[in-house]
Amino acid sequence: MEQYYIKGGNPLVGEVEIGGAKNAALPILAAAIMTDETVHIDNVPDVRDTNVLLTAMENIGVIVRHEDRHRITINAANVHETVVDDDNIKKIRASYYLIGAMLGKYKHAEVTLPGGCDIGCRAIDQHIKGFRALGADVVVEHGMIKTHAEHLRGSHIYMDVSSVGATINVMMAAAMAEGKTIIENAAKEPHVVDVANFLNSMGASIRGAGTDVIRIKGVSKLHGSEYTIIPDQIEAGTFMFAAAVTRGDVTVRNVIPKHLESITSKLLEIGCEVMEEDDQVRVVCSRPLRHTKVKTLPYPGFPTDMQPQITVALGLSEGTSIVTESIFENRFKYVDELTRMGANIKVEGNTAIIDGVAKYTGAGISAPDLRAGAALVLAALSAEGESLLDNIRYIQRGYEDFHLKLQGLGAQIKLVDSENDYAKFHLLTG
Ligand code: EPZ
Repeated sequence: MEQYYIKGGNPLVGEVEIGGAKNAALPILAAAIMTDETVHIDNVPDVRDTNVLLTAMENIGVIVRHEDRHRITINAANVHETVVDDDNIKKIRASYYLIGAMLGKYKHAEVTLPGGCDIGCRAIDQHIKGFRALGADVVVEHGMIKTHAEHLRGSHIYMDVSSVGATINVMMAAAMAEGKTIIENAAKEPHVVDVANFLNSMGASIRGAGTDVIRIKGVSKLHGSEYTIIPDQIEAGTFMFAAAVTRGDVTVRNVIPKHLESITSKLLEIGCEVMEEDDQVRVVCSRPLRHTKVKTLPYPGFPTDMQPQITVALGLSEGTSIVTESIFENRFKYVDELTRMGANIKVEGNTAIIDGVAKYTGAGISAPDLRAGAALVLAALSAEGESLLDNIRYIQRGYEDFHLKLQGLGAQIKLVDSENDYAKFHLLTG
């Protein structure tokens, strides 16, 4: 089993290049099957979730060609079935984007119910409500979602909660419905906008993405396109917080600073310096960190996907901080691991009350999910002594070359997959 061996204590210093946004890439790759023409997509992150999705697409007849590590060509002219039921696809949340894409194009889709990180109940009622509003029959049976429509017709849909997945999924299906669709209370995340821009580049007519109201005029056909995915807001935020917790000086390159505003603002509040330029941000942390309060919210609020990383930083900050998780009900599972490293954090319901400690100490720890896993790496990098992190497959779902990028900033982190490896590295750095 692969693990990260980490020896903490080095301030991270240097520059790191951010890749394409995983949570934009997943729906964009799925949406690429909505045309029979060839689509070229650039800046696709080479992470486990995108690769699982691409394999599932190949299994139904999509031709996927890797022009280089991050540039992929997709052609869906020979799709031979609209049933996606493979063992791997169950493990990723984004499998559900194939429903919106196939329902839009083929008016039929059957996809295994989504898995993904275990961070809460993760309902899909808003997806189903949206598809039904467009005129599709939807049933959930034998672990599959099955949808079919004789005709998809535009509709006026009010989302009961701001859902990234439901907004994107319904937007994809509506792009190829007859007539106009209005989605109210739409999610406004940058990746929602990116998917709308991609669909528009294929000939869709979608206006208002990035606001509460998205207006879509359905078209009968989409065409080929060439598109570059936006940089990953959460990967960038994770490296910004890596600078904060290790008292480092990190320039995070290839980002859209606007997408990072809520993250930047919290870093400033806790005492870091943040210098923004056109497509990079530099985070310098030379003073003791200060306490604050933070509540996760839909964009442009502080992202739930950055909640574990800020908690790790606040665990090292002077005074008492409060973190409230308002999106998912079970996203503090990593706190037990942090406690083993010396953190003083009490979780009550959806709130963590954090009494800052002067330092963490290395320990054997385990990643409970993707972002929590990345946050535990940050904790271990700041800690006194050595840590061994299990279950790093979660991290590999969404961070490309995480340990290599950290090594580039001076971190002592190594991918190991046996006790032998561990002993070797231990001798090397010990
Ligand atoms: C996406 O999940 C991301 N995943 C998550 O990132 C991210 O945490 C989340 O959006 C919020 O930003 C992908 O893009 C693959 P939601 P998603 O639908 O679409 C409730 C990561 O670490 N809800 O916006 O599943 C839901 O229970 C992952 O990269 C309903 O009630 O999130 C939650 O409380 C983890 N009914 C809230 O809405 C629905 O039909 C937001 O969920 C849909 C959602």
